[in-house]
Order: sequence, then structure tokens, then C-alpha cells
Amino acid sequence: MSCGHCVAVCPTGALDNSRCPKAEMDPITRPMLDPDTALEFLRQRRSIRNFRDELVPEEKIRQLLEAARFAPTAANSQGMYYLVIQDRDLIKKITDCVADWMQEQIDNKSPQKRYFIKVLHVYRERGIDIIGRNARQLIFVLARRLNVTGPSNSEQSLAYAELYAPTLGLGTTIMGFIETCLRADYTPLRELLQIPTKQVGVGCLLVGYPRYRYHKLVDRQHLKVEFR
Ligand SMILES: Cc1cc2nc3c(=O)[nH]c(=O)nc-3n(C[C@H](O)[C@H](O)[C@H](O)COP(=O)(O)O)c2cc1C
Repeated sequence: MSCGHCVAVCPTGALDNSRCPKAEMDPITRPMLDPDTALEFLRQRRSIRNFRDELVPEEKIRQLLEAARFAPTAANSQGMYYLVIQDRDLIKKITDCVADWMQEQIDNKSPQKRYFIKVLHVYRERGIDIIGRNARQLIFVLARRLNVTGPSNSEQSLAYAELYAPTLGLGTTIMGFIETCLRADYTPLRELLQIPTKQVGVGCLLVGYPRYRYHKLVDRQHLKVEFR
């Protein structure tokens, strides 16, 4: 499928393209958001780690991922594959597997050694699931192994999902520890998820129905920018 820019930008509707037919293109029907509304929408997104018990139905997750697939990808490569895991036992095996990987990193004296020692202390000694945040549902992103932009494409797509989620009443959080282990292509994790050898895991997102509502917008470090 091509990018469709030529057809979408044509002011008279004269251009068509067999790889993105004009007849299949949706018209733009709504005005662009004003900047204040858009900024508040962006700022309302929060990383959610406390969820109600019920599972998000498959249809709603599909709706979420329909938005994610409109994110930009390098050279319009697209081609991402999503895998939703909601089997409790498998999720526990996944977080344990990531913990094993961290232990290997520690044993191999990786630069992250000191950080992983702290994470593993919390996960194993204190019994707090800092790795998977007690997930009931995890969305994995797989990309073609040969596509070196897979991780960046995944980040773009999950950013779209994260921003769209609150409009569906959903909450999300990027699962960074799991993502790092996936991207390291750790064989036991690959086997647990049954990732085909032509693909590689590049992203992981926690999803659920938020238990709490936020009433304020949080601030960030001030903007640091330089013009030359
Ligand atoms: C690349 C990346 C990895 C992250 N990994 C985790 C994670 O493993 N666990 C977690 O609870 N939150 C994770 N987060 C969420 C951040 O902690 C969160 O974005 C930050 O604390 C700011 O909160 P906010 O998203 O609500 O603004 C991650 C975020 C990013 C962008």
C-alpha cells in the first residue's frame, strides 16, 4: 500500500492511484482541533498502572489498534503485527523470564547491572511486580527482523495507541523492561511468545480499564531548545 499523499493532497480530485484508490479514501470531515484543545488532550494522557478487574474485550482492543496502525512508519514500511496476551500464567512466565534476563545481565556485568540489581530486589525479594505491573493484558508489537526501524515504528504506533486509549475509556503504560528484553531478542522470551524467527519483538504496552480518574494536568521540566 502506498502513502497516498498524491491522491490525498490533490485539490481537484483529479489524481488517483491504484495502490491507494481515491474511492477508498475517507474524506476529512472535522475541523482541526484548536491548539489549546489539542494540548490539553495530549497532556491528559497518563501512564496507568492501576486497573479494574475486568478484561478489555477483544473488540475494544481492535479499536485501539486500529488507531495505532495510522502512526507513521519509516518509508511507510508498516508491517507491524500485534499480539495480545491475557493468559495470567503466561504473563507471570513473561515477567519471570524478563527477571531471568536481568539476572544474566547482572552476571555478565552489563552497564545496567546496578539498576537491574535494584529492580530484581523489588521483584523477587519484595514480591512487587515492577516488571509487568500486575498486567492482565499486554499488547506486544512484532516487526520484521530485517526492518531496522521496527523499534521506532513500534514507538510511534504505541504513542498513537496511548493517546487514543483514554477516548475509549482505556489506560495504558509502556512496559519498558519487557521491551528491552524483547529487543535484546532473549531466546527464552522469544520462545515463550512463539515469535517466528523472521520477526522480532519490538514493543510492549500494558492495557486495561483505569481504576482512578485524574483531575489535574501534571507539569514537566521546562522546555530546553536552542536555535542557531
Ligand atoms: C520508553 C518508556 C518505557 C517505560 N517503561 C515503563 C515501565 O517499564 N513500567 C512503568 O510502570 N512505566 C513505564 N513507562 C512510563 C513512564 O514511567 C511514564 O511515562 C513517566 O513516569 C511519566 O508519567 P506519565 O506517562 O503519566 O506522564 C515507560 C515510558 C516510556 C516512554
